[in-house]
Amino acid sequence: MTSRKPLVVGNWKMNTTVPEGVDLARAVAAATHFDSIEVGVLPPFTHLWLVAQALTETHVGVGAQNLYWEEKGAFTGEISPAMLRGWCRFVLVGHSERRHVFGETDQDVNRKLHAALRHQLRVIVAVGETEAERDAGTTVTVVNRQLDAGFAAVDVRDLARIDVAYEPVWAIGTGKTATPAEAQDVCAQVRCRLTEHFGTPGADVRVLYGGSVTAANAVQLFGQADIDGGLIGGASLKVADFAAIVAAAKQPAGRMG
Ligand code: PGA
Repeated sequence: MTSRKPLVVGNWKMNTTVPEGVDLARAVAAATHFDSIEVGVLPPFTHLWLVAQALTETHVGVGAQNLYWEEKGAFTGEISPAMLRGWCRFVLVGHSERRHVFGETDQDVNRKLHAALRHQLRVIVAVGETEAERDAGTTVTVVNRQLDAGFAAVDVRDLARIDVAYEPVWAIGTGKTATPAEAQDVCAQVRCRLTEHFGTPGADVRVLYGGSVTAANAVQLFGQADIDGGLIGGASLKVADFAAIVAAAKQPAGRMG
């Protein structure tokens, strides 16, 4: 059996008001307790502190959807890792909406990863190809490029604080999930690339799948050998759906790492 504890994280994106977010966080904590699964939520910045308070002494970790790499200063509208340090468990970097809507580069992702690690945050690094890239047969090339640049100069000792989320861009918010075999294929490639770079510790990095995960398809996706959980967008806003997805991450007997 794999020693990688499954992780399921809800990425709320730009959804919910502050009171709705606090209620949602409480409901998620009440509905998702399994000793064998790590659970997290990524609310908008405005909600983070209150949600963190609401989740104190629960099993649910709180994290940010983004950050900027500078410590402080004249960067209007940005949030620094120092502001999240000490009470936020995670931060997500490299989400495809950051890359494609806001123009973030692989180098930006790398700067953010280093900044977060310097401030003792856990980091979820998102990678994934567009539909055109998949159609052109370049999925692995694109994902390897994102990994190579994203992880540049990362110390192997910091790997234990990093998870990767493989999210095909064409599957995000579209209802078009990758098949379990397609998702497994790329997640295995991710693990292979990290192992080439970092040796054995690279194989222990958790690799999540994201992109239209639902209560209906989660069991099959999470049953794949190299998929260690999920990054959940739309379905993370509905407690019953999210709870069912978390429950699906209980490792099926015989799943091998
Ligand atoms: P989705 O989003 O589950 O709504 O497809 C996933 C994500 O963007 O992390």
